[in-house]
Amino acid sequence: MTLAFTLNGRPCRAEAPDHWTVIDLLRDGLALYGTKFGCGEGVCGTCTVLFDGMPVRACLTLAARLDGRQLTTVEGLGDPGTGAPDALQDAFARSGAVQCGYCTPGVLLAAHALLAENSAPTEADVRRALAGNLCRCTGYVKIVEAVLAVARGKA
Ligand code: FES
Ligand code: FES
Repeated sequence: MTLAFTLNGRPCRAEAPDHWTVIDLLRDGLALYGTKFGCGEGVCGTCTVLFDGMPVRACLTLAARLDGRQLTTVEGLGDPGTGAPDALQDAFARSGAVQCGYCTPGVLLAAHALLAENSAPTEADVRRALAGNLCRCTGYVKIVEAVLAVARGKA
């Protein structure tokens, strides 16, 4: 099938077999490798992308659903033209919220969705919003600190 949707703010047309998920389309169809594949079962959150601004599991979302919709991946954060990071990416990099980095794209997008909805989250709000994004490395403390710093304008 042919899909027409908005990818990271730009029109995108792509061919996809009916059974492809969004992560299949991104990685195998569009050669966008920022979205990471983890469990493939909706558990780890590492494949999180924004579908019409809402965080979804790319491994569980059929690509067919993208038609006419908006998709944001980690490649759409910051300024793709210059490579400049956005505030969250910058805060993560500077605060030790990234170690191996495998979870980071999904965490960033979940954090973006939170801040779009709640510009002054509490620590509990951040932890709740990121509860579906597993991280094996950081213990979450630096991740939560980075998100709160951006929310408070201190990043
Ligand atoms: S790879 Fe999608 S939730 Fe784990
Ligand atoms: S930084 Fe390694 S899994 Fe989160």
